[in-house]
Amino acid sequence: MVGGAEGQDQGWREFIAGDLYPDTAAPWATDPAFALVLRFPGLRDSVGGRVAAALRQTIGLVRAVRGVELLAVVQANRPALGLCLGFGMNVLEPYDLLQTFRLDQVHAYEWIGEQVIEAAQALQALRAAEPLLPTQIRLHHGTISDLRALADGSIHVAYVANVFTAEVPMGAETFTAAVGEILRVLAKGGILISRGSAGTLEAALRRVVQPLLETALVSVFQKI
Ligand SMILES: C[S@@+](CC[C@H](N)C(=O)[O-])C[C@H]1O[C@@H](n2cnc3c(N)ncnc32)[C@H](O)[C@@H]1O
Repeated sequence: MVGGAEGQDQGWREFIAGDLYPDTAAPWATDPAFALVLRFPGLRDSVGGRVAAALRQTIGLVRAVRGVELLAVVQANRPALGLCLGFGMNVLEPYDLLQTFRLDQVHAYEWIGEQVIEAAQALQALRAAEPLLPTQIRLHHGTISDLRALADGSIHVAYVANVFTAEVPMGAETFTAAVGEILRVLAKGGILISRGSAGTLEAALRRVVQPLLETALVSVFQKI
């Protein structure tokens, strides 16, 4: 387990579900892509920035192009659950997903422990104004190829940005497991929003879920 300085406010730890691992002892430590991201912090940089505006734009595009109201689709479920994959340095990505879709809870995965701690500390800073936040956002120090903490069909909207990229080639085993896990946890009718992808994720999903929108910037799929 890794942690912050002794004696400091550890309230941020309440945002993290499960263990925090030292880099070398993480179950995914031998994944070559992990070693690469660990070595070059630039690869986990917040290339997407705050995502609330992009999510609202995506909702508007799907409404315009397909006549589908994503907010209504997601909010038809109570509790409505979200999933954010690979938030990296974009510490408020899970928060923006929670707020934009007015979700009851968001689970967020990242395999670099330092980023998980930074996200937890950023969320802790918002806690005074939003005391329920530690129950609404659950951070997981984990690989997106193993979402076993989440039940089958439990997620109503998933968001993944700048994770399936050419810069960090995902190994075939991790890729296949990640796609399988995303499909497993998505509820029937659940939505997946993908931004900044090299296209491999979309190619794999197109065969099994319904594309609602495919542009150079964003793709949206619905599990039918
Ligand atoms: C370029 S950053 C993108 C950050 C953020 N989503 C954005 O759009 O700004 C990609 C992040 O995905 C994480 N990542 C890549 N593969 C992963 C995996 N298999 N499991 C968990 N996180 C992963 C990396 O550690 C990195 O922080």
